[in-house]
Amino acid sequence: MKKLNVFIPFILIIISSCGDESGSSSDSYTSDDAGDISVTDTGCDIYKCDNTLNTVPIEITDYKPFIKGPYIMYTDTDSTTIMWETERPEPSVVDFGENQISLKRITGGSEQIHEVRITGLRPDTLYYYRAGSGEFMTEFFTFRTNPNLNKPFRFAAYSDSQNHPERHSKLIPMIAKLGPSFILHAGDAVERGWEEERWQKEIFDVIRPLAFFIPYYFAIGNHEANSDYYYKYFSYPYPENDLQHESYYWFRYGAVFVIVIDSEKYLFGTEDPEHKWVVQTLKKPEAVWAGIRIAVFHQSAYTDGWGHCDYDGNLQIRSSLIPVLEKGGINLILNGHTHGYERGLLNGVYHMIIGGGGGDLDMKCNDFPFIQKTNYVHHFIYGDVLCDKVRITAVDIDGNAFDEFEIPFEYPQPAR
Ligand SMILES: [Fe+2]
Ligand SMILES: [Fe+2]
Repeated sequence: MKKLNVFIPFILIIISSCGDESGSSSDSYTSDDAGDISVTDTGCDIYKCDNTLNTVPIEITDYKPFIKGPYIMYTDTDSTTIMWETERPEPSVVDFGENQISLKRITGGSEQIHEVRITGLRPDTLYYYRAGSGEFMTEFFTFRTNPNLNKPFRFAAYSDSQNHPERHSKLIPMIAKLGPSFILHAGDAVERGWEEERWQKEIFDVIRPLAFFIPYYFAIGNHEANSDYYYKYFSYPYPENDLQHESYYWFRYGAVFVIVIDSEKYLFGTEDPEHKWVVQTLKKPEAVWAGIRIAVFHQSAYTDGWGHCDYDGNLQIRSSLIPVLEKGGINLILNGHTHGYERGLLNGVYHMIIGGGGGDLDMKCNDFPFIQKTNYVHHFIYGDVLCDKVRITAVDIDGNAFDEFEIPFEYPQPAR
């Protein structure tokens, strides 16, 4: 009997991870809870994946409680960040909970740009939240923490939304209807990063109804010009005292590992801190043991399209970064910079350009043999991550799906 007790905690941990993914180590089970349950009885397999994609469309509203937001930023299996901007300094208050009645409250100092980090959450769990000063609080929104298991989900991605919010705005309801879990943006969010008004009109006024509910992950583009606004308005992890590191970061969502790289800052030498970080990050267990690894950065190594046909990609990225990503097991690269859509497969890595978010379009200039599809239209893509493959679909601004392909993967397996 004593021997059995020794094994019960181990069995319970596995059951908790599989039968109820939201179960966390803070869940308390007693020996009575164990009863006759065994791994065999539940068919529990921590690597089992139910190949069903359940997406929840996001309802678009024109509700505007603040200048910006509230908007969801970096989210993990147990935490998220909520930001908003008010006209004058006010206290930062966020209420959150698994329902709208039993709420916890976080309060912060008086700010204009508010940033509240919520920790201690359960994985793959829907939370309600509202933000404000304490006196004024918004209506309730929701966010969902990341799953820690292989579970089908959808993401959306695009870039180069600069200068034409009227085009960018047309993509938002289409993306909302698809119910993605997060959005990747490969840079050139705004035309001139040093003009505050651009961030308002070209990004925050446009993405508001989506960003109430899901996180945006932005790479920095050349048009952001490494502006302070990127660092002020976005919240991604960075080592202490190195704010410039906030433009390169990683996250894990189920079977997917995403590394966001700052192609504007990358110095292409082994002593470059960002280069070192990329090499080290791709060796992390979270990357090595992912089903699929995605790199997002602005400037592509190769491109068939450009405005004046005097460019075919960033040669430094081509010679310095791409070999590191190939060696590090990256499966899919998402770039912008060229305003249009391109898709190719080189040395086992899918290269995509998704620069159709609104900026004026480029045209076809070159003909790299590995680039299999080009289309210089405004568009976005979405990826359905199933148990053993990602199915990627490209959709133009009129709602027509114009490209679809699949990337198979095995999970779990080490990258190399
Ligand atoms: Fe651009
Ligand atoms: Fe660009």
